[in-house]
Amino acid sequence: MADESQLRQALLNLVRNAREALEGQGGGRLRVVVDGAPANPGSAEPSNGGDATVRLSVEDSGPGIPREHIGKIFDPFFSTKAKGTGLGLALVQQIVLEHGARIDVDSDAGSGTRFVITFPSPATAPDPRRSAMPGVDAVAPRPLPNGGVVSGGARSVP
Ligand SMILES: Nc1ncnc2c1ncn2[C@@H]1O[C@H](COP(=O)(O)OP(=O)(O)OP(=O)(O)O)[C@@H](O)[C@H]1O
Ligand SMILES: [Mg+2]
Repeated sequence: MADESQLRQALLNLVRNAREALEGQGGGRLRVVVDGAPANPGSAEPSNGGDATVRLSVEDSGPGIPREHIGKIFDPFFSTKAKGTGLGLALVQQIVLEHGARIDVDSDAGSGTRFVITFPSPATAPDPRRSAMPGVDAVAPRPLPNGGVVSGGARSVP
């Protein structure tokens, strides 16, 4: 996949935030899940069909994000941490948008937090390398085999 190191950076930032949220309350559950979903949820297409999107979720059972902060968390320099730069999620959002993907957050104070990055179906995904290397065909990302969960499992953070 294009810009693998950027995508890894985005994932690491989400996981680091989740860890920090759990450390603040002395432990909890952190889960990373990759799965496929039909681009059109109403269609009869199987989740590993040609129009499937790929979702990457990072969930934690931490304190959650208060409603009044949700609209600000992607702003550069917004941080509630003593030593936070507030640049982590701004970078994540930039990387996600550069890949033609979207990021959603599901959280509320007291209910944990889930960030979901949804990559467009391979058929419609823009390829960042195409403009950078004209004439060179990029390899399209493939849907996940069986559309199943390929990574997951809960792990405790001490
Ligand atoms: N998993 C999470 N649980 C609770 N709050 C979160 C979570 N992820 C982000 N936040 C909130 O969003 C704010 C912005 O996150 P962001 O990653 O941009 O900056 P930061 O973590 O504060 O600083 P840095 O990433 O530079 O260490 C955090 O300060 C925190 O208030
Ligand atoms: Mg951060």
